[in-house]
Amino acid sequence: MCNGIRIVATGLDVPEKIMSSEDFEKIVETSDEWIRTRTGIKNRHFLCAGETHLDMAMRAALKAIDSAGIDRQQIGTVLVATFASDQYVPSCAALLQERLGLSEDVLAYDLNAACSGFMFGLESVRGILSVSEKPYALLVGAEALSRRLDMTDRSTCILFGDGAGAAIVEKSDRPAVISCRTRGDITKILVDRYVHMDGQGVYKFAVKEVPKLIEEVLAKAGVSADEVDHFICHQANARILQSVAKSLDQPMEKFYQNLQEFGNTSAASVPIVMAQMNDLGLLKRGERVVLAGFGAGLTWSVATFLW
Ligand code: UT7
Repeated sequence: MCNGIRIVATGLDVPEKIMSSEDFEKIVETSDEWIRTRTGIKNRHFLCAGETHLDMAMRAALKAIDSAGIDRQQIGTVLVATFASDQYVPSCAALLQERLGLSEDVLAYDLNAACSGFMFGLESVRGILSVSEKPYALLVGAEALSRRLDMTDRSTCILFGDGAGAAIVEKSDRPAVISCRTRGDITKILVDRYVHMDGQGVYKFAVKEVPKLIEEVLAKAGVSADEVDHFICHQANARILQSVAKSLDQPMEKFYQNLQEFGNTSAASVPIVMAQMNDLGLLKRGERVVLAGFGAGLTWSVATFLW
């Protein structure tokens, strides 16, 4: 069977500069208390002038490659999930090929599924690995979102942060179930120059659709929510995570949260959680994980496999 995947190793990178909620009190009419109670966010990381999206993607990728201990010439695919990179062309994935010294017979491109980008990338990589001659794919989620924020719009600018997460993925005979969903809707989240969002509309969509899709995917995998060790979810709002946990009748301890320190990093969010948990030794081989992303598009996606 070749439709399974295994995450061999992970890496993450965020810029050094921290923007606290108190910092935002000086920029827009808001308060640390409002942000904390409505979202769970305290800090987020912002790139400084001169720092790049590519630098973050590169550092996260290098950590994943180094920790995998693989020959990087065995990487046949590089996908970068992003909608906020340094430039549209060349792709971040193409530049990673050069910077990482990967061979030229690599399939490298960026993909945009907003906050579900890493998840859509995972499903893409699963298909690609089943026909690829090389055993490994490098999958990165990276966003320089601070450059897409209207710093006069308090309903969005306090939510997002910059960062990158990366994973080395290989084929596995242990099957994975991954479902990706798309519903074209420009009214809930639109990113032109800046991010615009109908926060409540997205909130309602997330708390309705995400648990439903998790249940569908778990049923397809033939396991119950009780058998899942970790729910690795997109970090948009602590209240969304609590609602998903409640719908699934699962304890919050299974839902690792880092939005308090990173905010919403869109496509980087799921791989950053995964990498942080991995660095902390919280993910054990053989454990069952569920990954869940949701966001603009609208897009939403759930995967389950054994770590
Ligand atoms: O990653 C993509 C997916 N995105 C999401 O999942 C986001 C989902 N949505 C959310 O997380 C929440 O809807 C938000 C955190 C964005 C907003 O929370 P909310 O509880 O839905 O607030 P709201 O939009 O209903 O606004 C309530 C009030 C409004 O004031 P009025 O009209 O009641 O006077 C807003 O103007 O809060 C006001 N408000 C703020 N007040 C202080 C909005 N932003 C702020 C702010 N500080 N930063």
